[in-house]
Amino acid sequence: MTLKVDYSNTMIKQEEIDNIYKQIILADSILKSKEGPGSDYLGWLDYPVSHDKEEFERIIKAAEYIKENCEVLIVIGIGGSYLGSKAVIDALSPIFVNELDEKERKAPKIYFAGQNISGKYLKQLYELVKDKNIMVNVISKSGTTTEPAIAFRVFKALLEEKYGKEASKKRIFVTTDKSRGALKTMAEEQGYESFVIPDNVGGRFSVHTAVGLLPIAAAGIDIRAFMKGAEDSMKEYTSEKIEENACYQYVAARNVLLRKSKEIEIMVNYEPEMTMFAEWWKQLFGESEGKEGKGIFPVSVNNSTDLHSLGQIIQDGKRNIFESVIVFENHEDDSIIPSDTEDLDGLNYIAGMGMNYVNQKAFEGTLLAHIDGGVPNIIIRVDKLDAYNIGRLVYFYERACGISGYILGVNPFDQPGVEAYKKNMFALLGKKGYEELAASLKNR
Ligand code: PA5
Repeated sequence: MTLKVDYSNTMIKQEEIDNIYKQIILADSILKSKEGPGSDYLGWLDYPVSHDKEEFERIIKAAEYIKENCEVLIVIGIGGSYLGSKAVIDALSPIFVNELDEKERKAPKIYFAGQNISGKYLKQLYELVKDKNIMVNVISKSGTTTEPAIAFRVFKALLEEKYGKEASKKRIFVTTDKSRGALKTMAEEQGYESFVIPDNVGGRFSVHTAVGLLPIAAAGIDIRAFMKGAEDSMKEYTSEKIEENACYQYVAARNVLLRKSKEIEIMVNYEPEMTMFAEWWKQLFGESEGKEGKGIFPVSVNNSTDLHSLGQIIQDGKRNIFESVIVFENHEDDSIIPSDTEDLDGLNYIAGMGMNYVNQKAFEGTLLAHIDGGVPNIIIRVDKLDAYNIGRLVYFYERACGISGYILGVNPFDQPGVEAYKKNMFALLGKKGYEELAASLKNR
């Protein structure tokens, strides 16, 4: 196993694991039978082996074309059509990738748009890229989401102004539903190359589909290794023996803790490039579990940075939290702490040590302190941060989320709560069909 779960620091007793084990088996069997709530959205479950191989090759070809023919790729999408690719690209690219010159990067600079409605963000991004050689990948399953639709309108107009309507068609890649939605209609009418978001895969479970794969491949990341990681996870999590199934172990620990009123789970990372991975994880669990008054509230910290901020409340605040810490066992890069003859800063006691070693000790020290402070810690040990293991982790969390959702008794594959803000926003903006709601909002 290159991914291991250690719940020895959670104060959970073996009998508590034994008690929840039957529910895990039941929840997982409902998942596998595809007969539970939301079963129309279980395409991700065997996607690492059942995916369309021809489309996969077409994604690799399109990514090569993008890499060879543009300087900047704008990836447009929001929620599940954004977070996964951003998470994987950030985790696996050099940290200052957009500052590197073309030769060192070996891929276009990638910027994201349509993940917010900030006028300042869009204007400054537009100004930054307008004179560069640009291509666009617009991603939306529904094809009608407001944020990416606005950004696409803006960048489509820029491309057409710069290159003309015809030439722009070779610069726009669309990832959307196979037959429905405004984006699909546009792609067909304009002849943009398009990729499919399968009907049976929801946004936040779509990282291994074209949604994640095209931008990830265009960033120069090995998507074959990424898929292989998911495939190996999928095969490993068929075991019903909890001692062989890391996914079951994680599900067991977090659900036992929830029953002990630990209602907040903090994903902890010690590598800054994992910041967006935690954002993806937050969406996955928050949107899947958080319904009908239920769910574990997902939060994240990036240490040691946040030990100097949220560290205080984690150590000493209300005891309703637990942590799940991702630890990478091996690292490619390191910095050695230099020695200084004068030692005025008193740091010579760690001179000659690698920063990764110091980071490891920061993790160990924090773990002990938080356990003493009454914060259970689940540790997720991963061999190293590479495409294979990130592919593995993504599937690990997706599977854990599906099982956990069923244990909680919710449908983990819908998101009815997301609609509330949209309706109000449309009404306030004067969209046709929302007149009645607009009138009722005025009276509030
Ligand atoms: O997980 C989800 O289903 C959502 O976060 C969607 O991905 C998000 O709302 C964007 O939707 P769409 O891809 O239809 O633009």
